Order: sequence, then structure tokens, then C-alpha cells
Amino acid sequence: MIEVQGLHKRYGNFTAVSDLSFAVRQGEVLGLVGPNGAGKTSTLRCLAGIIPASSGTVRIAGHDLAADPIAAKRALAFFSDEPRLFDYLTARQHLNFVARIYGVANHEAIAQPLLEEFEIADKADQLPGELSRGMKQKLAIACGLLHSPQVMFFDEPLTGLDPLGIRRMKNSIIKRARAGATIVLSSHLLHLLEEVCTHVLILKRGEKIADGTLAEVSARFSNGDANVNLEEIFLRATGGSDI
Ligand SMILES: Nc1ncnc2c1ncn2[C@@H]1O[C@H](COP(=O)(O)OP(=O)(O)OP(=O)(O)O)[C@@H](O)[C@H]1O
Ligand SMILES: [Mg+2]
Repeated sequence: MIEVQGLHKRYGNFTAVSDLSFAVRQGEVLGLVGPNGAGKTSTLRCLAGIIPASSGTVRIAGHDLAADPIAAKRALAFFSDEPRLFDYLTARQHLNFVARIYGVANHEAIAQPLLEEFEIADKADQLPGELSRGMKQKLAIACGLLHSPQVMFFDEPLTGLDPLGIRRMKNSIIKRARAGATIVLSSHLLHLLEEVCTHVLILKRGEKIADGTLAEVSARFSNGDANVNLEEIFLRATGGSDI
């Protein structure tokens, strides 16, 4: 469902992502982890076609992102860590607008349950300036889910949400994976990732240190210790705070 081969992302002379290859299958949730500046956002933006990769191939739901970007982008949604909304559109108008862009038929039947799922139904007629940060994030997520994407990229989806919001977000992600979506999410909240992800990929200075199921990656860094959690694996794999 997501296939990445030899992805490089350079900004000028600086290499942010280097020779990254991995695949995520339908129903899997891959946690992308790594220290600040490891290249998580750069990777996710390249995979979603928001910024161009310097080299490498990305296939989304069977579509080559470079050769057939429209088909690939129709199949995906990208959720930024900085939701961008239109100042003069209400929450409901955002959903109507996105529905029109993606050609979603009968979108009201989809939009209302999304507003309810993300607890912003009572704010449907408010402008972004009248919403809290977490509510803006939820609105951006509802907009991204409107076209029922098969592939979803979340960059720090849990930051800024309250504890109940985090739990609901986790459940929304798990629900969509169980329904057959393919999901990649980056987060520093490792104990939460453990509850959501089937697989994990550790990045350090733009390079893949490890990937596999949580059990596989744990086994690799456990050094024989039983019950090593993802935070401990992260610290062992990345050498503490040194990136
Ligand atoms: N537009 C840009 N121009 C130049 N360098 C950039 C640009 N965007 C990111 N970088 C650099 O690329 C590297 C990776 O950044 P990126 O935002 O992908 O990291 P990240 O893993 O998402 O970090 P964080 O955990 O802080 O969100 C960093 O060294 C960053 O300074
Ligand atoms: Mg980032």
C-alpha cells in the first residue's frame, strides 16, 4: 500500500533523509520515530507529495507518486503538525470546500459524523479564530478524512490534544487501520505509539536505524532484557539525546 525505495531529501547541500526504503501494508500502522531533526516531517511531506523528493520512488496504493501524482494524492491524506485553515470559512464551510475539491458525493452524510467523532459538531458554524488549537487540529483531521483516504500520514497527531482527545484520536486511527487503511504516524509520545502502532521505524540523522514489528525492533535492542518499552528502545537506538 505504501512502498518507498531509496528516498533521499536534500535541502541545498544538506541531506535530511538518506536512502530510505520501507513498505507499509494495508491495515498496518507504522510509527515513525526519531529525535528532533531526524527527518520525520521531511519524510512524511515527501511521501504525501507536498515537497518533492530529491530521488527515490514512492508508491501510494499502487500509484507512483511522481508519475501519477493525482491518483496517488486522491488515495492519501496528510495531517500536518501545524494545521492550516482558512480564516474566513467556518468549520462546516471547510468541509464543504474540501468535499468540492475532492468531488465527494453526498458529503454531508460523511461530514456530520466526522464533526461528531472529533467533537466539533457544536462549533460547526464558528471560524478558525474562534476555535482552540486542539479544535483546529480536529477540524483539519476531519477535512482530511472526508474523501475516505486509503493511506494516511499523520505528523504529530496527538500534540495539543487533551487526554480524552488523545484517546479518541488513538481510537480513530486504530478504527481506520482495522477498516483497511494504511497509516504512518510520527510522534514523540512513545507510550501512546506503542498502543496504536503495529510497526515502528527509527530514524536518526535521516537514516533508518531499524524497522519492523514492535516485537522485532524490541528484540533487536533489548540486549536480553525482558519487557523493554519503546522509550528505552528509542534511547538505546538513537544514543540518548544525541542526534
Ligand atoms: N525547508 C528546509 N530547509 C532546510 N533545511 C530543512 C528544511 N526543513 C527541514 N530541514 C532540516 O532537515 C532536518 C530534518 O527536519 P525535519 O523537520 O524533517 O525533522 P523531524 O524529524 O520532523 O524533527 P521534529 O521531531 O523536531 O519534528 C533538520 O535538520 C532540519 O533543520
Ligand atoms: Mg517534525
